[in-house]
Amino acid sequence: MRASELFDVSGEVVLVTGGGGGIGVAMAGVLALNGAKVALADIDLEVAQAAAASLCSGGATAVSVELDVRDEQMIVAAFDRVEAELGRVSVLINNAGVAHRDKAVSLPAQTWRNVMDVNVDGAFAVAQEAARRMIRYGNGGSIINISSILSEIPIRQVAAYSTSKAAVTQMTRCLALEWAKHQIRVNEIRPGWFETALTGPFLKGPGAKVMAGQNPMGRLGDGSDLAGAVLLLASGAGKFMTGSAITIDGGHSIGR
Ligand SMILES: NC(=O)c1ccc[n+]([C@@H]2O[C@H](COP(=O)([O-])OP(=O)(O)OC[C@H]3O[C@@H](n4cnc5c(N)ncnc54)[C@H](O)[C@@H]3O)[C@@H](O)[C@H]2O)c1
Repeated sequence: MRASELFDVSGEVVLVTGGGGGIGVAMAGVLALNGAKVALADIDLEVAQAAAASLCSGGATAVSVELDVRDEQMIVAAFDRVEAELGRVSVLINNAGVAHRDKAVSLPAQTWRNVMDVNVDGAFAVAQEAARRMIRYGNGGSIINISSILSEIPIRQVAAYSTSKAAVTQMTRCLALEWAKHQIRVNEIRPGWFETALTGPFLKGPGAKVMAGQNPMGRLGDGSDLAGAVLLLASGAGKFMTGSAITIDGGHSIGR
Protein backbone atom coordinates (compact mmCIF):
# COMPACT_ATOMS: atom_id res chain seq x y z
CA MET A 1 0.00 0.00 0.00
CA ARG A 2 1.24 3.48 -0.79
CA ALA A 3 2.09 5.74 2.15
CA SER A 4 -0.42 8.33 0.95
CA GLU A 5 -3.18 5.71 1.21
CA LEU A 6 -1.93 4.14 4.45
CA PHE A 7 -1.74 7.47 6.28
CA ASP A 8 -4.86 8.92 4.65
CA VAL A 9 -6.82 11.15 7.08
CA SER A 10 -8.93 12.93 4.50
CA GLY A 11 -12.14 11.32 5.76
CA GLU A 12 -11.52 12.17 9.42
CA VAL A 13 -13.23 14.74 11.60
CA VAL A 14 -10.82 15.70 14.37
CA LEU A 15 -11.57 17.53 17.60
CA VAL A 16 -8.47 18.92 19.34
CA THR A 17 -8.89 20.21 22.89
CA GLY A 18 -6.49 22.98 23.81
CA GLY A 19 -6.49 23.45 20.05
CA GLY A 20 -5.36 27.06 20.25
CA GLY A 21 -2.08 26.23 22.03
CA GLY A 22 1.34 25.38 20.65
CA ILE A 23 1.14 21.59 20.46
CA GLY A 24 -2.60 21.51 19.64
CA VAL A 25 -2.19 23.86 16.66
CA ALA A 26 0.78 21.85 15.36
CA MET A 27 -1.12 18.56 15.50
CA ALA A 28 -4.30 20.03 14.02
CA GLY A 29 -2.20 21.65 11.31
CA VAL A 30 -0.67 18.44 9.94
CA LEU A 31 -4.05 16.70 9.94
CA ALA A 32 -5.74 19.64 8.21
CA LEU A 33 -2.94 19.84 5.65
CA ASN A 34 -3.65 16.21 4.81
CA GLY A 35 -7.36 16.78 4.30
CA ALA A 36 -8.93 16.13 7.72
CA LYS A 37 -11.62 18.51 8.96
CA VAL A 38 -10.46 19.93 12.27
CA ALA A 39 -12.17 21.61 15.22
CA LEU A 40 -9.97 23.62 17.57
CA ALA A 41 -11.65 23.62 20.98
CA ASP A 42 -10.12 25.86 23.61
CA ILE A 43 -11.01 27.76 26.77
CA ASP A 44 -9.32 30.71 25.09
CA LEU A 45 -11.64 31.25 22.12
CA GLU A 46 -9.50 34.02 20.64
CA VAL A 47 -6.41 31.84 20.16
CA ALA A 48 -8.56 29.03 18.74
CA GLN A 49 -10.23 31.45 16.32
CA ALA A 50 -6.89 32.82 15.17
CA ALA A 51 -5.48 29.31 14.66
CA ALA A 52 -8.58 28.14 12.75
CA ALA A 53 -8.48 31.25 10.55
CA SER A 54 -4.84 30.63 9.76
CA LEU A 55 -5.57 26.99 8.77
CA CYS A 56 -8.56 28.07 6.65
CA SER A 57 -6.46 30.68 4.85
CA GLY A 58 -4.21 27.80 3.74
CA GLY A 59 -7.23 26.02 2.23
CA ALA A 60 -8.06 23.71 5.18
CA THR A 61 -11.45 23.08 6.77
CA ALA A 62 -11.18 24.25 10.37
CA VAL A 63 -13.54 25.67 12.96
CA SER A 64 -13.03 27.01 16.48
CA VAL A 65 -15.15 26.12 19.49
CA GLU A 66 -15.12 27.56 22.99
CA LEU A 67 -14.61 24.72 25.46
CA ASP A 68 -13.62 24.43 29.09
CA VAL A 69 -12.90 20.72 29.55
CA ARG A 70 -13.92 21.07 33.23
CA ASP A 71 -17.52 21.81 32.16
CA GLU A 72 -19.57 18.77 31.09
CA GLN A 73 -22.31 20.83 29.43
CA MET A 74 -19.75 22.64 27.32
CA ILE A 75 -18.25 19.31 26.27
CA VAL A 76 -21.61 18.01 25.02
CA ALA A 77 -22.31 21.34 23.29
CA ALA A 78 -18.88 21.33 21.62
CA PHE A 79 -19.42 17.83 20.18
CA ASP A 80 -22.94 18.81 19.02
CA ARG A 81 -21.58 21.85 17.24
CA VAL A 82 -18.71 20.03 15.59
CA GLU A 83 -21.08 17.28 14.41
CA ALA A 84 -23.43 19.88 12.94
CA GLU A 85 -20.64 21.83 11.21
CA LEU A 86 -18.12 19.15 10.21
CA GLY A 87 -19.69 15.72 10.85
CA ARG A 88 -19.20 13.01 13.48
CA VAL A 89 -15.92 13.18 15.37
CA SER A 90 -13.75 10.20 14.41
CA VAL A 91 -10.51 11.39 16.06
CA LEU A 92 -10.20 13.10 19.42
CA ILE A 93 -6.92 14.67 20.47
CA ASN A 94 -7.16 15.10 24.20
CA ASN A 95 -4.56 17.83 24.48
CA ALA A 96 -5.82 20.64 26.77
CA GLY A 97 -3.47 20.97 29.69
CA VAL A 98 -2.08 23.25 32.36
CA ALA A 99 1.22 23.17 34.21
CA HIS A 100 2.69 24.85 37.26
CA ARG A 101 6.00 25.42 38.95
CA ASP A 102 5.85 25.11 42.73
CA LYS A 103 7.86 23.43 45.44
CA ALA A 104 5.80 20.47 46.67
CA VAL A 105 5.95 21.64 50.26
CA SER A 106 4.23 24.93 49.43
CA LEU A 107 2.09 23.83 46.46
CA PRO A 108 -1.31 25.52 46.93
CA ALA A 109 -4.19 23.05 47.22
CA GLN A 110 -6.02 25.06 44.57
CA THR A 111 -3.17 24.56 42.08
CA TRP A 112 -3.14 20.82 42.69
CA ARG A 113 -6.94 20.71 42.24
CA ASN A 114 -6.94 22.73 39.04
CA VAL A 115 -4.16 20.69 37.42
CA MET A 116 -6.11 17.50 38.19
CA ASP A 117 -9.41 19.05 37.06
CA VAL A 118 -8.04 20.00 33.64
CA ASN A 119 -5.42 17.35 32.91
CA VAL A 120 -7.18 14.30 34.38
CA ASP A 121 -10.90 14.86 35.01
CA GLY A 122 -11.26 17.04 31.90
CA ALA A 123 -9.41 14.59 29.66
CA PHE A 124 -11.54 11.73 30.98
CA ALA A 125 -14.82 13.61 30.50
CA VAL A 126 -13.96 14.54 26.90
CA ALA A 127 -12.83 10.97 26.10
CA GLN A 128 -16.06 9.66 27.63
CA GLU A 129 -18.23 11.92 25.48
CA ALA A 130 -16.26 11.00 22.35
CA ALA A 131 -16.57 7.28 23.11
CA ARG A 132 -20.29 7.47 23.88
CA ARG A 133 -20.88 8.93 20.44
CA MET A 134 -18.44 6.59 18.66
CA ILE A 135 -20.21 3.60 20.28
CA ARG A 136 -23.63 4.98 19.35
CA TYR A 137 -22.63 5.50 15.70
CA GLY A 138 -20.81 2.16 15.50
CA ASN A 139 -17.84 3.26 13.39
CA GLY A 140 -15.10 3.19 16.03
CA GLY A 141 -12.53 5.96 16.21
CA SER A 142 -9.19 7.07 17.57
CA ILE A 143 -8.51 8.88 20.84
CA ILE A 144 -5.04 10.36 21.26
CA ASN A 145 -4.17 11.46 24.78
CA ILE A 146 -1.30 13.90 25.19
CA SER A 147 0.67 13.06 28.31
CA SER A 148 4.34 13.89 28.87
CA ILE A 149 7.68 12.24 29.53
CA LEU A 150 7.10 13.57 33.07
CA SER A 151 4.44 10.89 33.51
CA GLU A 152 7.35 8.57 34.26
CA ILE A 153 10.33 10.77 35.09
CA PRO A 154 10.07 12.84 38.27
CA ILE A 155 11.58 16.31 38.22
CA ARG A 156 11.44 18.92 40.97
CA GLN A 157 8.60 21.47 41.35
CA VAL A 158 6.02 19.81 39.11
CA ALA A 159 4.46 17.26 41.46
CA ALA A 160 0.86 17.94 40.46
CA TYR A 161 1.62 18.07 36.74
CA SER A 162 3.68 14.87 36.74
CA THR A 163 1.08 13.05 38.82
CA SER A 164 -1.67 14.18 36.45
CA LYS A 165 0.23 12.93 33.40
CA ALA A 166 0.92 9.57 35.08
CA ALA A 167 -2.85 9.32 35.53
CA VAL A 168 -3.34 10.04 31.82
CA THR A 169 -0.97 7.17 31.01
CA GLN A 170 -2.96 4.68 33.07
CA MET A 171 -6.27 6.14 31.88
CA THR A 172 -5.13 5.54 28.29
CA ARG A 173 -4.54 1.85 28.95
CA CYS A 174 -7.79 1.39 30.91
CA LEU A 175 -9.90 3.05 28.22
CA ALA A 176 -8.08 1.18 25.45
CA LEU A 177 -8.94 -2.10 27.13
CA GLU A 178 -12.61 -1.27 27.68
CA TRP A 179 -13.29 0.27 24.29
CA ALA A 180 -11.28 -2.01 21.97
CA LYS A 181 -14.38 -4.11 21.31
CA HIS A 182 -16.01 -0.98 19.88
CA GLN A 183 -13.02 -0.45 17.55
CA ILE A 184 -12.10 2.67 19.50
CA ARG A 185 -8.33 2.91 19.78
CA VAL A 186 -6.89 4.89 22.68
CA ASN A 187 -3.22 5.78 22.53
CA GLU A 188 -0.87 8.28 24.10
CA ILE A 189 1.77 10.66 22.80
CA ARG A 190 4.44 11.64 25.31
CA PRO A 191 6.19 14.83 24.23
CA GLY A 192 9.48 15.89 25.75
CA TRP A 193 10.33 19.60 25.99
CA PHE A 194 8.69 21.88 23.42
CA GLU A 195 8.76 25.68 23.57
CA THR A 196 5.13 26.78 24.10
CA ALA A 197 3.18 29.03 26.47
CA LEU A 198 2.96 26.08 28.87
CA THR A 199 6.72 25.65 29.21
CA GLY A 200 7.42 29.41 29.15
CA PRO A 201 8.11 29.63 32.91
CA PHE A 202 10.64 26.77 32.68
CA LEU A 203 12.36 27.84 29.48
CA LYS A 204 12.63 31.61 29.99
CA GLY A 205 16.04 33.21 30.10
CA PRO A 206 18.80 30.63 29.82
CA GLY A 207 16.30 27.79 30.53
CA ALA A 208 15.76 26.85 26.89
CA LYS A 209 19.48 26.56 26.23
CA VAL A 210 20.01 24.53 29.39
CA MET A 211 17.18 22.13 28.49
CA ALA A 212 18.37 21.81 24.90
CA GLY A 213 21.85 21.11 26.25
CA GLN A 214 20.48 18.24 28.35
CA ASN A 215 18.85 16.67 25.29
CA PRO A 216 20.80 13.90 23.53
CA MET A 217 19.82 15.45 20.18
CA GLY A 218 20.82 18.90 21.43
CA ARG A 219 17.58 20.77 20.90
CA LEU A 220 13.98 21.29 22.05
CA GLY A 221 11.08 19.83 20.07
CA ASP A 222 9.08 21.78 17.53
CA GLY A 223 5.59 21.15 16.19
CA SER A 224 6.80 19.32 13.11
CA ASP A 225 8.37 16.65 15.33
CA LEU A 226 4.87 15.47 16.31
CA ALA A 227 3.49 15.16 12.79
CA GLY A 228 4.46 11.55 12.04
CA ALA A 229 3.02 10.12 15.25
CA VAL A 230 -0.22 12.07 14.90
CA LEU A 231 -0.72 10.87 11.33
CA LEU A 232 0.04 7.29 12.42
CA LEU A 233 -2.46 7.30 15.28
CA ALA A 234 -5.19 9.21 13.44
CA SER A 235 -5.08 7.10 10.26
CA GLY A 236 -5.54 3.47 9.32
CA ALA A 237 -1.75 3.06 9.57
CA GLY A 238 -2.27 2.61 13.32
CA LYS A 239 -5.36 0.44 13.06
CA PHE A 240 -4.05 -2.35 15.34
CA MET A 241 -2.47 -0.01 17.89
CA THR A 242 -4.27 0.62 21.13
CA GLY A 243 -3.04 1.24 24.67
CA SER A 244 0.33 2.31 23.23
CA ALA A 245 2.55 5.24 24.14
CA ILE A 246 4.78 7.03 21.64
CA THR A 247 7.56 9.14 23.14
CA ILE A 248 8.75 12.15 21.11
CA ASP A 249 11.57 13.76 23.04
CA GLY A 250 14.84 13.52 21.12
CA GLY A 251 15.93 10.89 23.64
CA HIS A 252 15.52 13.18 26.68
CA SER A 253 13.88 10.47 28.79
CA ILE A 254 16.59 7.87 28.18
CA GLY A 255 19.49 9.94 29.49
CA ARG A 256 21.98 12.63 28.60
N1 LIG B 1 5.15 22.05 25.68
C1 LIG B 1 5.74 20.94 26.13
O1 LIG B 1 6.97 20.86 26.25
C2 LIG B 1 4.88 19.76 26.53
C3 LIG B 1 5.54 18.60 26.91
C4 LIG B 1 4.80 17.49 27.27
C5 LIG B 1 3.44 17.54 27.24
N2 LIG B 1 2.80 18.68 26.88
C6 LIG B 1 1.35 18.66 26.87
O2 LIG B 1 0.87 19.10 25.62
C7 LIG B 1 -0.43 19.68 25.81
C8 LIG B 1 -0.46 21.03 25.11
O3 LIG B 1 0.47 21.87 25.74
P1 LIG B 1 1.19 23.11 25.03
O4 LIG B 1 2.62 22.98 25.33
O5 LIG B 1 0.73 23.25 23.64
O6 LIG B 1 0.66 24.29 25.95
P2 LIG B 1 -0.17 25.61 25.58
O7 LIG B 1 -0.31 26.33 26.86
O8 LIG B 1 0.45 26.30 24.42
O9 LIG B 1 -1.57 25.02 25.11
C9 LIG B 1 -2.51 24.49 26.02
C10 LIG B 1 -3.87 24.95 25.56
O10 LIG B 1 -4.85 24.38 26.46
C11 LIG B 1 -5.83 25.36 26.70
N3 LIG B 1 -6.53 25.08 27.95
C12 LIG B 1 -6.06 25.26 29.21
N4 LIG B 1 -7.02 24.94 30.09
C13 LIG B 1 -8.10 24.52 29.37
C14 LIG B 1 -9.39 24.07 29.71
N5 LIG B 1 -9.79 24.01 30.99
N6 LIG B 1 -10.24 23.72 28.72
C15 LIG B 1 -9.85 23.82 27.41
N7 LIG B 1 -8.66 24.28 27.03
C16 LIG B 1 -7.79 24.62 28.00
C17 LIG B 1 -5.06 26.68 26.75
O11 LIG B 1 -5.91 27.79 26.54
C18 LIG B 1 -4.03 26.47 25.64
O12 LIG B 1 -4.48 26.98 24.39
C19 LIG B 1 -0.66 19.74 27.31
O13 LIG B 1 -1.48 18.65 27.70
C20 LIG B 1 0.72 19.58 27.88
O14 LIG B 1 0.70 19.04 29.17
C21 LIG B 1 3.49 19.80 26.53
